Amino acid sequence: MRRLRRTAALRGLVAEVELSVSDLVAPLFVREDIIEPAPIESMPGVVQHTQDSLRVEVERLAGLGIPAVILFGIPARKDPEGTEAWDPDGVVQVALRNLASDVGDDMVLMADLCLDEYTSHGHCGLLDDRGRVDNDLTLDLYGNVAIAQAEAGADVVAPSGMMDGQVLAIRDALDEAEFDDIPILAYSAKYASSFYGPFRDAVDVTIEGGGDRKGYQQDWRNGREALEEIRLDLSEGADMVMVKPAMAYLDIIARARAEVDVPIAAYHVSGEYAMLKAAAANGWIDGEAAALEQLTAIKRAGADFILTYLSAEVAPLL
Ligand code: PBG
Repeated sequence: MRRLRRTAALRGLVAEVELSVSDLVAPLFVREDIIEPAPIESMPGVVQHTQDSLRVEVERLAGLGIPAVILFGIPARKDPEGTEAWDPDGVVQVALRNLASDVGDDMVLMADLCLDEYTSHGHCGLLDDRGRVDNDLTLDLYGNVAIAQAEAGADVVAPSGMMDGQVLAIRDALDEAEFDDIPILAYSAKYASSFYGPFRDAVDVTIEGGGDRKGYQQDWRNGREALEEIRLDLSEGADMVMVKPAMAYLDIIARARAEVDVPIAAYHVSGEYAMLKAAAANGWIDGEAAALEQLTAIKRAGADFILTYLSAEVAPLL
């Protein structure tokens, strides 16, 4: 085999996968009550945007050839139901309207569809009187959020709350509101992962009482279960499915790839980004090379596109 590795040209000729700018989705945070972009300490290089700085950033990403963004909102007010998530003047809806007018159909505007950034208790759904997440009551609210996001200009809605039946509920809500052309990217195999730590800083979410999401996100000891979640979401009408996080779950991406033929997304999450940045800042690894290696590995495992905070910095390298 070594004969095929002798020159860079030869290696390029026989390379099995190539990471491309068109595989990248940039996650972006937009916050309501700030007048200047606010850096996120645990995610060097990532900021919470104002509506204005978000517009500038999305123009820049479009200029780099990045085809898509996914938006997360940080509202000024949180309440137990997370009502800002579907308020037509909620932070993400305002952002979507601005961006839709700026970039139109030149960029895919995705909206993360969940309640955790909007609820005062930090859970992804409504709580019942015993403090447990009420799956079925939450579904109606997800429908409201989907319609508000589609009305504001989302090209894709991406439910990340891991409620059972969420894809079907959202599909029905969208169809009823005549948004039958808006696809759903389901966070189907989403693990209760410690790699989301920095994200909780980014969206100012603290789960009340030191709780966690193990009651609804997947146990990371399970692999077959992820395939079952994917099959369920597809049967409910998901157009694309996601595996999250990425690096510790390449086996799940590969198994999903072998089983389904819809587009598969992978989310290289906040903690994966933070680890890479921290090691690179210490000079312990070559940050650029490690970033390309990780993202290419995710593609090699079978992902069609990758949500990554590295999008803007790797795009010029590709
Ligand atoms: C839920 C959501 C989370 C992330 C994306 N959507 C947080 C969670 O489930 O706790 C994490 C993304 C990341 O860590 O980069 N709205």
